[in-house]
Amino acid sequence: MPRKMVVIFGASNILWMVFAVSQASKMEIFLEPRVAAQIGDVISLTCSTTGCETPSFSWRTQIDSPLNGKVKNEGNNSTLTMDPVSFNNEHAYLCTATCGSKKLEKGIQVEIYSFPKDPEIQLSGPLEVGKPVTVTCLVRDVYPFDRLEMNLLNGNDLLQSKDFLEPMEKKSLETKSLEVTFTPTNEDIGKGLVCRAQLHMDEIDFEPKERETTKELQVYISPRNTFISVTPSMRLQEGGSVTMTCASEGLPPPQIFWSKKLDNGNLQLLSGNATLTLIAMRLEDSGTYVCEGVNEVGKDGKEVELIVQAFPRDPEVEMSGLLVDGNPVTVSCEVPNVYPSDRLEIELFKGETIIESKSFLEDMDKKSLETKSLEMTFIPTTEDTGKVLVCLAKLHIDEMEFEPKQRQSTQTLYVNVAPRDTTVVVSPSSIVEEGSPVNMTCSSDGLPAPNILWSRRLSNGRLQSLSEDPILTLTSAKMEDSGIYVCEGINQAGISRKEVELIIQVAPKDIQLIAFPSESVKEGDTVIISCTCGNVPKTWIILKKKAETGDTVLKSRDGAYTIHKVQLEDAGVYECESKNEAGLQLRSLTLDVKGRENNKDYFSPELLVLYCASSLIIPAIGMIIYFARRANMKGSYSLVEAQKSKV
Ligand SMILES: *[C@@H]1O[C@H](CO)[C@@H](O)[C@H](O)[C@H]1NC(C)=O
Ligand SMILES: *[C@@H]1O[C@H](CO)[C@@H](O)[C@H](O)[C@H]1NC(C)=O
Ligand SMILES: *[C@@H]1O[C@H](CO)[C@@H](O)[C@H](O)[C@H]1NC(C)=O
Ligand SMILES: *[C@@H]1O[C@H](CO)[C@@H](O)[C@H](O)[C@H]1NC(C)=O
Repeated sequence: MPRKMVVIFGASNILWMVFAVSQASKMEIFLEPRVAAQIGDVISLTCSTTGCETPSFSWRTQIDSPLNGKVKNEGNNSTLTMDPVSFNNEHAYLCTATCGSKKLEKGIQVEIYSFPKDPEIQLSGPLEVGKPVTVTCLVRDVYPFDRLEMNLLNGNDLLQSKDFLEPMEKKSLETKSLEVTFTPTNEDIGKGLVCRAQLHMDEIDFEPKERETTKELQVYISPRNTFISVTPSMRLQEGGSVTMTCASEGLPPPQIFWSKKLDNGNLQLLSGNATLTLIAMRLEDSGTYVCEGVNEVGKDGKEVELIVQAFPRDPEVEMSGLLVDGNPVTVSCEVPNVYPSDRLEIELFKGETIIESKSFLEDMDKKSLETKSLEMTFIPTTEDTGKVLVCLAKLHIDEMEFEPKQRQSTQTLYVNVAPRDTTVVVSPSSIVEEGSPVNMTCSSDGLPAPNILWSRRLSNGRLQSLSEDPILTLTSAKMEDSGIYVCEGINQAGISRKEVELIIQVAPKDIQLIAFPSESVKEGDTVIISCTCGNVPKTWIILKKKAETGDTVLKSRDGAYTIHKVQLEDAGVYECESKNEAGLQLRSLTLDVKGRENNKDYFSPELLVLYCASSLIIPAIGMIIYFARRANMKGSYSLVEAQKSKV
């Protein structure tokens, strides 16, 4: 605490002169009439005398209140010390010096004040350009405040001035303040706020009577115009790198923080550096990155969305099957492992015409590679052959810098035509005689040109392959070649079939005409004239008796004609005519009838049935052998011949 000693020698020269003249009787007393004492300080009032060797002192106040100080007498001096000065010292003090019978008294007015500290400047918040702020200037522990004047200046401009003239209720130290609200402008940057307080007590002498505090105007600018630059692009290929630099304006210059926005909306701090480099980016690194410029007065954020995308391969075009004229086919275009699939568009072109397109705008719930496809069904026609089917996949990202931003696959269409109009031409005819050459020529339309397969239908219905030559040639048709022939036109799009029946006609041959038991018989015998044909189907047999008057057609039964009790007139020429479409064969014999000698057993000719149906041949042969033996005949029928014809 400052110690203030008020030691006053008003006129020391005079003192010495007086002393020299009269030592004993010329006592004088010295005391300053007025002193300013600050509350809390230590102050000493010194009452001094001259002209007395041993003066005695006493102190009192004018109204006889307590001294509130300590008195110390030292020789010709007496000191009243107030430690500390308080309001109770605000009095007029009287010092009385006594020298023998002489008594001198002097008064001193102690003026109390308090003005111990410089004003304080307080701000309601940081000074921001354009933002009102309240400035408070305050002076603590001031007394008497009715003498106080405060001024607040911004640079040289007075913002406000204030007196505190209200009456004081009691003696006390008070804190007085002045408030101003103002809005800083850019011009205020660098100026100072000045708070000046003056205690107007000119009548007393103390220092300082004026105090002031200057506060440099620290004007802030909240971060703004935060700007992010991204190199090379906000769209990255998987595995790529990106460098993002953020800048933000403000005063003081904002500090930059990079964060990533998490799915729950929170921010995950990544860096406190303005430049953020991310390498080996993966799909999961896609998302919103936030740069914040932060300073004392605020922050300003900017977001950037990074998309790590994958578009690694060309689309794959697939057909549901072979392209066949008129058959619906589904073409699918598949884009594998794409990200982000919600930016994907697939277009399908046939030639120059777009025939289908599809976007995949549905939300992606997770960051993953997806395979997307477009499907479209169309009916190809032969006109489509040679046209190009293009599947174009685009990732719609405008500022994309990597290549390719679109990928495509093409396929040249070839439309097949299933075999049709299969036709067979049989030359010379589908009915030919045995031994004739036959060409069966097959043709079939289709794309690609169908292959020809000739087969023959077996009796069990199966097909037996014969040839892949369009012309099936029989150089010499045999009876067994008769049957159903099948021509198939075959290509990858289908089969077309045509059947043709080939009929090989065989002229009657190997017919035999016999008389049984003999060509020479006796009158009254029973004779069987029998005509048999070879194994040729569909052959007519006509048995006749020739006569000059005309031929008589005999009522033969299956080629056999029986004459019971032959008469002489039955002798003559008998003829068998066997014929079909392919030809005719004649055989004849001459029956000789002799006059009757005796009667003989005869057999019943009805049992003998000979005709060309093979099923009856075996029993018939048995009969013939039996009758032949009985008739002592040999060789009319060769069993070997008979069995051959059966085959
Ligand atoms: C003070 O008193 C002493 C005696 O105690 C005396 O010798 C001296 O001269 C005095 N001084 C003054 C300045 O009067
Ligand atoms: C008394 O006061 C005077 C003047 O202040 C000083 O010079 C002197 O030394 C003092 N005497 C004593 C005994 O303190
Ligand atoms: C920011 O990064 C650059 C380059 O990596 C480096 O030179 C600088 O010191 C970093 N600054 C801070 C604040 O980390
Ligand atoms: C069958 O075809 C051949 C050649 O392909 C030909 O020489 C022959 O004359 C044809 N025969 C008939 C009967 O058409």
